[in-house]
Amino acid sequence: MGRRLQLLLLMVAVSILLLVATGAAAAQEDNDTDDLPVEPVVDEPHPGYEYIAQEDDTEEKIELGEQLYFDPRISETGTISCNTCHNVMEGGDDSRPVAMGVHGQTGPVASPTVWNSGFHHTQFWDGRADTLAEQAEGPIVADVEMGMPDHEAALDRIRAVDGYVDQYEEVYGDEIDSDDPEDLITIETTTDAIAAYERTLVTPDSPYDQYVQGDADALDEQQLDGMEAFEELGCQSCHNGPMFSGQWDEPESGEGFYMPNPTFEENEQCQEYVEEYDFMDHPGRMGVTDDEADEFHYKVPTLRNVEHTAPYMHTGQVPTLEESVRVMAACQLDEDPSDEEVEDITAFLTSLTGEYPEQEMPRLPNPSGESMVPMDADTEFEDIEEEVDDDEAIDDDGDTIPGLSLGAAILALAIATATVLIGYSRRFNQ
Ligand code: HEC
Ligand code: HEC
Repeated sequence: MGRRLQLLLLMVAVSILLLVATGAAAAQEDNDTDDLPVEPVVDEPHPGYEYIAQEDDTEEKIELGEQLYFDPRISETGTISCNTCHNVMEGGDDSRPVAMGVHGQTGPVASPTVWNSGFHHTQFWDGRADTLAEQAEGPIVADVEMGMPDHEAALDRIRAVDGYVDQYEEVYGDEIDSDDPEDLITIETTTDAIAAYERTLVTPDSPYDQYVQGDADALDEQQLDGMEAFEELGCQSCHNGPMFSGQWDEPESGEGFYMPNPTFEENEQCQEYVEEYDFMDHPGRMGVTDDEADEFHYKVPTLRNVEHTAPYMHTGQVPTLEESVRVMAACQLDEDPSDEEVEDITAFLTSLTGEYPEQEMPRLPNPSGESMVPMDADTEFEDIEEEVDDDEAIDDDGDTIPGLSLGAAILALAIATATVLIGYSRRFNQ
């Protein structure tokens, strides 16, 4: 009898223990931020790919978009792809102050990262495109980027590759109800596929995200101090929300969040930065709206993975992350943080680096036995001025180069001079 009671008591004790243990585990999963040493400055973690995925972003469409994203053959010279300036093997940018496109030409501003660009309300520093698809129309024909004369010329290159035609048919055949490459391969389908791939470029699960989800050890002491300094200075008044860009909840809506740089133009330290880093040389958002109130306004950039996207700001002139923190403190908040605060904030910003999904170089379809880039691609689209120069270099038949006859003339003149000189010296000797 005593044994049985003991056994019963033991069973009851074990059950109670089990209940308590599962209860504790459940509480921990509850994202309870109350137990964290410092309250997070933004209390939502990275929302992940699901948040921006669109219903018809199929695996086949994403793959096609990835191929187009990596294909340099749709640029004038066959050398520049989206990945040239937005390298997804690293920070999603080009590590240069300003971007360099075909013929080594440079543009006016720095390449922003494509990582997490699917969360932006608008695209470009000045927000001149609402969606990723609309954005992707620009670079193909920008003369300082991929340099094609028009979209049709780029589309014709794609249409000439059977492998691409088959893939477009697989992805868009039903929707477009045609197997004609002219109908299938349009600027709409092309940019739609590129955008579907870009939406997959998300980086959740940074140390910050782990912290917000209740892992008190995910941030070190310096990063916690940095988070406090970030908040005390007021950085989150612009860089808020889980993208630290102030805008994320209505992806691709066209409702951008723009702020001036500088806000405190009269701050003396800021004046030096403006001079040194060429701020206030570019109209910013005013270039889009024509409204003077928007002068020097820029889309507030995301701070996710910011440690990997130097150099900084729209001018790409600010060399380091630490210097960016100093610039922001002076120009945006009229503050003068100590070196220690600047270092702490910089350390905190590195906690926003997430998990980059593995990228694999895609295989690109090839035409059989010929190149997708025409033999004369370099000269085909040159502007009128250069064509005139070319016409001068090549005579009407197009087969003799005046340079060559000039060389021949010089040679003839040299021989004639030599003959005369020899004649003279002979006479002299006689
Ligand atoms: C020669 C370099 C270059 C090439 C090639 C290029 N881009 Fe860009 N990209 C830039 C620059 C510079 C900007 C910023 C321009 C601006 O804001 O005025 C930009 C902006 C963007 C943005 C906006 C990001 C943001 O935060 O606002 C996206 C997205 C993007 N490019 C995707 C692409 C895609 C897709 C392609 C290929 C079709 C491409 N880019 C080709 C340099 C390039
Ligand atoms: C008034 C709004 C505002 C405040 C406050 C603000 N920022 Fe910014 N931040 C911006 C804007 C706008 C830009 C883009 C400026 C440009 O390109 O010229 C920017 C750019 C940056 C960049 C460069 C990002 C890149 O990709 O080049 C960093 C880093 C940054 N901010 C960090 C901070 C920190 C740290 C603080 C607090 C000390 C702060 N910001 C406060 C609006 C703000």
